[in-house]
Amino acid sequence: MVQPPKSPIALEDRASEQGRLYSPSAARNRDAIAEVLARVLPTGASVLEIGSGTGEHAVAACQARPDLSWQPSDPDAASRDSQAAWAGEVGGAILAPLEIDLLRPQTLVAIDGFDALVCMNVIHIAPWAVAEALASLAQDRLRPGGHLVLYGPYLLGDETAPSNLAFDASLKSRNPEWGVRPLDAVTTLLASHGLVLVERVDMPANNLMLIFQRREPE
Ligand SMILES: C[S@@+](CC[C@H](N)C(=O)[O-])C[C@H]1O[C@@H](n2cnc3c(N)ncnc32)[C@H](O)[C@@H]1O
Repeated sequence: MVQPPKSPIALEDRASEQGRLYSPSAARNRDAIAEVLARVLPTGASVLEIGSGTGEHAVAACQARPDLSWQPSDPDAASRDSQAAWAGEVGGAILAPLEIDLLRPQTLVAIDGFDALVCMNVIHIAPWAVAEALASLAQDRLRPGGHLVLYGPYLLGDETAPSNLAFDASLKSRNPEWGVRPLDAVTTLLASHGLVLVERVDMPANNLMLIFQRREPE
């Protein structure tokens, strides 16, 4: 059987202006996401974002919460350039982007402890090993009591939205290793790394925001 070609990293179609990339989906969902981030992140939190894409979510979050220190990252160089171009919108709150690829452990060695890890629209459009690496990173580098925030679509058994079932099929046709992840598989994986689901927020267009907290050591 002929397998569809694998692309290592999935990026949306994005418009560009003076180095800033614009993502149509970020334009639709960034305000709702920033509202939740602004509510759940602790005062003065240092945040590491994995797979920041264009960098627009970092800007929206830091505009809503100027006390945050936000570290964007991405394996993709054009995305990192866009994150740096967008960072000027919010003074010094957004740090110079890091090259972080969850599947390349050598890109993870310099990461210090963070109060929060944020990862949006990544784990369904990457192999499951990316979710596993994210769980390990949160276990190792998130401060005890710190938050891991995920955003995206999930499979919810019989209650899965038809649009998410169709999205899952389309992802798998592009790459059999991708796919909308079952919510219980994600919570089980993270629980096995000491991360407890403390809040689930239903978001527009059948997405969820999931807030996990790293357990304090006994
Ligand atoms: C669909 S985009 C989402 C971008 C942004 N988070 C958003 O919600 O607009 C997926 C992002 O995941 C990043 N990504 C893919 N594989 C990754 C990996 N192995 N480690 C870290 N980021 C990855 C891509 O470079 C891309 O920026």
